Amino acid sequence: MGYVGLCTAATFASCGIPTIGIDIDENRIQQIRKGQAPIHEPQLDLMLKKAVKRNLLDATTDVSRVTDTRSSFLTVGTPSQPDGSIDLTFVKKATEELGTALQNKEDYHLVVVKSTVIPGTTNNTVKPVLEQSTGKIVGPSLGLCANPEFLKEGTAISDALHPDKIVIGSNDKKSAAQLTRLYREFYRSRLPPVITTTPETAELVKYASNAFLATKVSFINTIANISQHIPGVDVNQVAEAIGRDPRIGPLFLKAGPGYGGSCFHKDLQALINHSQLQGYDPLLLKATEKTNEEQADRVVELAEKLAGPLDQKRIAILGLAFKKDTDDIREASSIRVIDRLSKKGARLVGYDPMAMPNFERIFGDMIELTKDPLGALRGADCAIVMTEWDELRKLKAKDYIAQMRQPILVDARRIYNAPEFKELKFAAIGLGSVA
Ligand code: UDX
Repeated sequence: MGYVGLCTAATFASCGIPTIGIDIDENRIQQIRKGQAPIHEPQLDLMLKKAVKRNLLDATTDVSRVTDTRSSFLTVGTPSQPDGSIDLTFVKKATEELGTALQNKEDYHLVVVKSTVIPGTTNNTVKPVLEQSTGKIVGPSLGLCANPEFLKEGTAISDALHPDKIVIGSNDKKSAAQLTRLYREFYRSRLPPVITTTPETAELVKYASNAFLATKVSFINTIANISQHIPGVDVNQVAEAIGRDPRIGPLFLKAGPGYGGSCFHKDLQALINHSQLQGYDPLLLKATEKTNEEQADRVVELAEKLAGPLDQKRIAILGLAFKKDTDDIREASSIRVIDRLSKKGARLVGYDPMAMPNFERIFGDMIELTKDPLGALRGADCAIVMTEWDELRKLKAKDYIAQMRQPILVDARRIYNAPEFKELKFAAIGLGSVA
């Protein structure tokens, strides 16, 4: 019942399909049973409440309840090991517990791997563990599919309700047919294209998708960094123009401080690691990651350019979450920027509408946190916008001028219209005219 599992369960149940959510975390299960979302995700709370009320969603720590169902989705996390490779501990453990519970089930049961796993995992890891723990052979009485999930935090529910495709990787027709039937029941006339592949192809689709999107972000950040050295150039206009070309497309061309979140870095590292183990060094993906890591230096450079040496300067960090409308700080670019600023001796003060409790828990000793953005700006020598929150967009030049010791602003998310900030010393990612 993590991000993917909970959103998948809630959307299935909301479409009338009886669903059981299983997790080892008793607190989480209790919350779900009450119809309360244990994670922050728009629409989820309401959807859970309705589904629980209509008895379409149940939640339990008792894995043997899988025998009440016809299909089970494995949605456990696949974190990184220190070398970047994927850690399959949770996948193996969940598969084993699931398999043990299925030992005595007589009817056909389908197991679906929804967790993001390196190509080969469904057949080489999940399948043997499942066969051993069930005492059955994958085939006529036990189905196995890989079925990656592409939902984004912040729009997870609408992504789950309106996907652009469904990818089903299977070794046999029977398992793919059962999963397709389930999705047909779920989406009805809105069933998106179903792409049927081998498990390995389905697994790679997920990595290729995230690798491409991350590369698109690093690409536009590269163009932004070039733009900054050419007076009169604005990367946003470059992005708008190139995005009109259908071969390029307009999405994921927003220059900024670098990508964050629980997936891009983790999945790229896992893919790079896997590829290298197979004897191929994926230079492009390594460059995507390096460009992203170094984008934090570009943000700090802009601050230094305007404010001079940062030692003992008070710097306000506006926005800590990895993107707006979430309290998630995993791999957030704010962490990389804060790390560099504190190494330079800056005194840091931060604000975020949602992510401060998470930030305080992990990085509380690196930064002072304030209740509102104006509090963070008070007495600051420089402010850096790190997340594109609507609340921050509303701030005007006069708000910065009124609060700051020196009105210096770095817009690392391009939320402001530069001409309106003429009275400040203002710089923005990808804007080739630093004041
Ligand atoms: C991502 C994928 O989009 C999703 O399909 C997959 O299932 C999980 O990983 P998510 O991590 O929720 O989803 O965030 P996403 O909206 O993709 O943004 C990732 C990062 O890229 C954020 O830090 C965002 O700010 C950054 N980004 C995105 C940019 O800097 N510029 C862009 O144009 C788009």
